[in-house]
Amino acid sequence: MARKTILPEDQIPRQWYNITPDLPHGLQPPLHPGTLQPPGPDDLAPIFPMPLIEQEVSQERWIDIPEPVLDVYRIWRPTPLVRAVSFEKFLDAPVKIYYKNEGYSPPGSHKPNTAVAQAYFNKEFGIKRLCTETGAGQWGSALAFACSFFDLECKVFMVRISYDQKPYRRLMMMTWGATCVASPTDTTDAGRKILETNPDSPGSLGLAISEAVETAVTSKDIPTRYCLGSVLNHVLLHQTVVGQEAKKQMEMVGDYPDVVIGCAGGGSNFAGLSFPFAQDKINGKEVQIIAAEPTSCPTMTRGPFAYDLGDVAGMTPLLAMFTLGHDFVPPPIHAGGLRYHGMAPLISQLIRDGIIEPRAYHNLETFEAGLDWAKTEGYISAPETNHALAAVIEVAKEAKEEGKEKTILVNWSGHGLLDLAAYEDYLAGKLTDFALPEEEIKRALKAIEGLPKPQ
Ligand SMILES: Cc1ncc(COP(=O)(O)O)c(C=O)c1O
Repeated sequence: MARKTILPEDQIPRQWYNITPDLPHGLQPPLHPGTLQPPGPDDLAPIFPMPLIEQEVSQERWIDIPEPVLDVYRIWRPTPLVRAVSFEKFLDAPVKIYYKNEGYSPPGSHKPNTAVAQAYFNKEFGIKRLCTETGAGQWGSALAFACSFFDLECKVFMVRISYDQKPYRRLMMMTWGATCVASPTDTTDAGRKILETNPDSPGSLGLAISEAVETAVTSKDIPTRYCLGSVLNHVLLHQTVVGQEAKKQMEMVGDYPDVVIGCAGGGSNFAGLSFPFAQDKINGKEVQIIAAEPTSCPTMTRGPFAYDLGDVAGMTPLLAMFTLGHDFVPPPIHAGGLRYHGMAPLISQLIRDGIIEPRAYHNLETFEAGLDWAKTEGYISAPETNHALAAVIEVAKEAKEEGKEKTILVNWSGHGLLDLAAYEDYLAGKLTDFALPEEEIKRALKAIEGLPKPQ
């Protein structure tokens, strides 16, 4: 049996799939944090270039991928679809498991699928510098990589705790020509405000977003905009090359998934794989779609669906999403990309519509899954990806209990070769599960009490 299904280069999708027009009940509009009305393009123009604002609100089902973006995609796309034969054997359950290897890209994750597109559209719009935030460093390194192809300056605000713990991600960004600073910095109002009260602040993703947005909108020297690596509609849109390729590859082997799985931080890799299958589900096909998150940051499984800010300082529009409150600070798990208080509005809406099912996994079981995977399939996964693998194991157990054969498709969103310190901690027995008390969730949700409520 062939392990890998490889698509030829000319089979890279030519269009991105926009799920918005297919949503059974539409999407709640974002709201301007000042006026509490839907923001117009002019409100967003200081933050994003117009082509990306247009994609953000587009009702077109298919959006063409420009040739220069395809040209960079060709470096690593199409990515292989691999049958996880050895992991199947290890699980001894009636399941076939296919994984889409998004760790195959130069930065090592799915993130460049959107980074390249965002860099291209900014460049076309006359922008010279991009600012962004990064947690564990996957997104920052993907944007640094993308900017190097389009001759753009790139400034990355990296959450301080990761900046200190992950010097190699920072060095990747620098190798691709980006500037990487530890957030909080004293160069923004948002950063200074935090440093005044806590000079040793480890930072957070919400704060780093505030710093990057503030820098983008206040830069006067050269045209500067902000980029986000997840959550927003246009970011999820760009990731749909993953699911479209996977669909073709499944067709090539004569299969179709019963269950589609991805881990979800802001939701981009999960959406990228699952939305083309969610479209089938909306059109009547039977397929289970599972989004895996950490129990320590249980946005989808324990948070309410509410309007909330995307950042700490209130620089972003209010989004209708599952949220734990914008000042929720998740416990310091190593899966930095899953430590975000909110969830993409598109995914949140599809959860409400019953299309997507969220599940949460404990820290230790995700590392156990990662080690089982490494010992059978060989690849060492990013700690974020291990959450998807924990979901695969759970579904395989269910299939065994039900005595039912299942075909599982999972997004292997990135490798963990620069996350080995996390594996070191796990192997040394230093990691624990984090029980999140209900009181902490209640406390954090106070931050959204006064905000408008979605319908
Ligand atoms: C390897 C990997 N997987 C998953 C994620 C989670 O992000 P998203 O939910 O946007 O895919 C990240 C975020 O940094 C990541 O680096």
